[in-house]
Amino acid sequence: MNKIVISTGGGDAPGLNAVIFAVVKSATKLGWEVYGSLQGYQGFLDKDKMVRLMPADVQEITSIGGTILGTTNRGNPFSMPIKNFAGEEKLIDVSDKVMAGFRRMSFDCHIAVGGDGSLEIAHRFAEMGMPVIGVPKTIDNDLEATDRTFGFDTAVSTATEALDKLHSTAKSHDRVMVVEVMGRDSGWIALYSGICGGADVVLLPEIPFDMDAVCAKITENELHGKRYSIVVVAEGAKEEGGSVRTRGKGEAGREEVLLGGIGEWVAEEIRQRIGKDTRSLVLGHLQRGGSPTTFDRLLALRFGAAAVRFAAEGQFDRMVAWTPPTMSSVMLEDAIRCRKQVDLKSDKVLTARSIGICLGDKE
Ligand code: F6P
Repeated sequence: MNKIVISTGGGDAPGLNAVIFAVVKSATKLGWEVYGSLQGYQGFLDKDKMVRLMPADVQEITSIGGTILGTTNRGNPFSMPIKNFAGEEKLIDVSDKVMAGFRRMSFDCHIAVGGDGSLEIAHRFAEMGMPVIGVPKTIDNDLEATDRTFGFDTAVSTATEALDKLHSTAKSHDRVMVVEVMGRDSGWIALYSGICGGADVVLLPEIPFDMDAVCAKITENELHGKRYSIVVVAEGAKEEGGSVRTRGKGEAGREEVLLGGIGEWVAEEIRQRIGKDTRSLVLGHLQRGGSPTTFDRLLALRFGAAAVRFAAEGQFDRMVAWTPPTMSSVMLEDAIRCRKQVDLKSDKVLTARSIGICLGDKE
């Protein structure tokens, strides 16, 4: 092992820079050269977008959000949006060019940091002969093979802080505040922040909700003299018999539809059904920004250092996973197979119910 490359793909998450720091420091200590591919796979296609990473380049980045390498949701080399001379965008398979770039630059290993989409791409390259190690990243915490992904803890902290702030304004106005949080098809951010942020109602993708139950909880609050309520809605939540709200496919080359809109829909239903003054807000990308919490920093640093250890052992086509108390490696193919959803029998769900949070069902 002489020369490795690291890339960051998909949506950013707090902690990406900490992974880069740990990879550069650990690999350099072993005498390896480290390179960074900018904007996902662009560095493999354009040498100006492949940068040498020295320890001095990463010295102060651990506490900084985002990624110094840049990232993209439209960077799938198997279906990359490329403009022709007429300015029209077409989806082109440039995977052979990526492989050629990887070989031309004589890399021995590619550490691909990303969520399920990026890890699936990494696995496809592994099948084409690229020695790949995946590092799981996503604020959604929805990868089954690892106990946690970094970025999640920071997103939960941000959402909880927002809920804490909303209590005083909701209380002053006797209002219902409906807060839509991220998480795609998993309700982790909604559940954790809802419990910690004192929500009255938390709506998860895992439990199709009933508006009668939601309104009954708000009315019950009123009867007990609590004239305001906080409702947390996961962006992937849906009504019983309904479907998720989306904002379309977004830019060309995106793999997944953009979720969103369910918060405002729930707020409107509350207004119409019980006539309460109701406001909604979408926390959106605030949840992806800012400095990683110490939990995320430590997890990201451990992931980066473990990725280099696994590279040294030649454990390719695998993903680093946190399987407490150890860091282990799992086959990429297995890691991307299923999404992790909230276990409805888990202690967190039981806790939510015990402390009186309505989860949108009739229990
Ligand atoms: O997967 C991370 C995530 O933040 C989701 O929670 C959210 O649905 C999506 O990415 C938003 O994507 P974009 O940054 O493209 O708007």
